[in-house]
Amino acid sequence: MKAIRIHAHGGPEQLRLEDIDLPAPGPGQVRVRHTAIALNFSDINVRRGGFYQPEPMAMPIIPGNEAAGVVASVGPGVDDWRPGQRVAYVGMDGPFYHHTGAYAQERNVPADRLVAVPDAISDEQACGLLLKGTTAASIIERVFPPRAGQVILIHAAASGVGSILTQWASHLGATVIGTAGSPAKAEAARRHGAAHTILYREVDFVAAVKQIVPEGAHAVFDGVGKDTFVRSMDCTAPFGTLVNYGNASGHVPPIDMIDLAIKGSLSICRPGVHYFLKDAARLRAAAGKLFDLAARGVLRVEIGATYALADAPQAHIDAEAGRHAGSIVLRP
Ligand SMILES: NC(=O)c1ccc[n+]([C@@H]2O[C@H](COP(=O)([O-])OP(=O)(O)OC[C@H]3O[C@@H](n4cnc5c(N)ncnc54)[C@H](OP(=O)(O)O)[C@@H]3O)[C@@H](O)[C@H]2O)c1
Repeated sequence: MKAIRIHAHGGPEQLRLEDIDLPAPGPGQVRVRHTAIALNFSDINVRRGGFYQPEPMAMPIIPGNEAAGVVASVGPGVDDWRPGQRVAYVGMDGPFYHHTGAYAQERNVPADRLVAVPDAISDEQACGLLLKGTTAASIIERVFPPRAGQVILIHAAASGVGSILTQWASHLGATVIGTAGSPAKAEAARRHGAAHTILYREVDFVAAVKQIVPEGAHAVFDGVGKDTFVRSMDCTAPFGTLVNYGNASGHVPPIDMIDLAIKGSLSICRPGVHYFLKDAARLRAAAGKLFDLAARGVLRVEIGATYALADAPQAHIDAEAGRHAGSIVLRP
């Protein structure tokens, strides 16, 4: 079967389409024939190398943490899945750089990592929703539950995670101010429910936020990181919460704790999606909730672009340039 592998860290040119042999599924494993593979920013971090990984990674690596497809066959001892069932998975049981392998036509996956995909959800939606949706859930359900009367600043509000946060926070009644890198993305953010949008590369976003809400936002949800996080402290209301969940522009520099007091008794949190991914039962419950929200139209998974698996290098180039709103899907 075909798979994309890297033999060294580096640029998108490291992603090579190769023929590899996949053994029959072992005990407790299910062979999944992929129909849609998610491109997540973490795949770019794995390809580049050096992002959180404490040790050198053994090469070659098939990148990718998330895919949807159908059960092709089951290994010994698997009696809860049968060939033909629609399934999806995200992550295994460790950090995003462990046990990758989704950039392939097929993969053997531990049976307990699979979730059933309901009829109302397409394969693209499923694999655009699991990682990004559980990341949003780790913020909205565990760190800062938005409610009516609150104003929330969401950076890159048209991005994969940002678009889900924007829809979910708006649905819960909060007023969302969304930043975006282009007018088209600002339009997408408004479609997702943002009441106000700011072209944060063109204007001083701190001043723009203060014009809308002079005392500052109750919370900031920030997946951009280096380019936005420190300035976001100046757009946060006293006793407000800053959530950094991602580093698309690079790592946030060290923060001096005293600044949190000076800038208004702020709280800072840096959640990781591990909470959901490492526990299969918790992940299935979260997936069920996300699929339900999507089936009811509360969360719309916007597929910004699809690429053939062979075109993964171009997909990475475009993702790193932030060319698309929403999720990017690879087709095996
Ligand atoms: N904490 C966790 O467990 C967790 C889970 C999932 C994802 N993440 C992280 O969250 C971040 C966002 O993920 P995502 O899936 O929403 O990504 P995405 O869909 O690829 O969106 C990233 C967006 O960030 C903005 N951006 C600003 N500076 C950028 C730069 N230098 N390079 C690329 N993009 C830049 C762009 O939006 P504009 O054009 O609007 O500026 C871009 O579209 C990533 O860092 C990812 O690793 C963390």
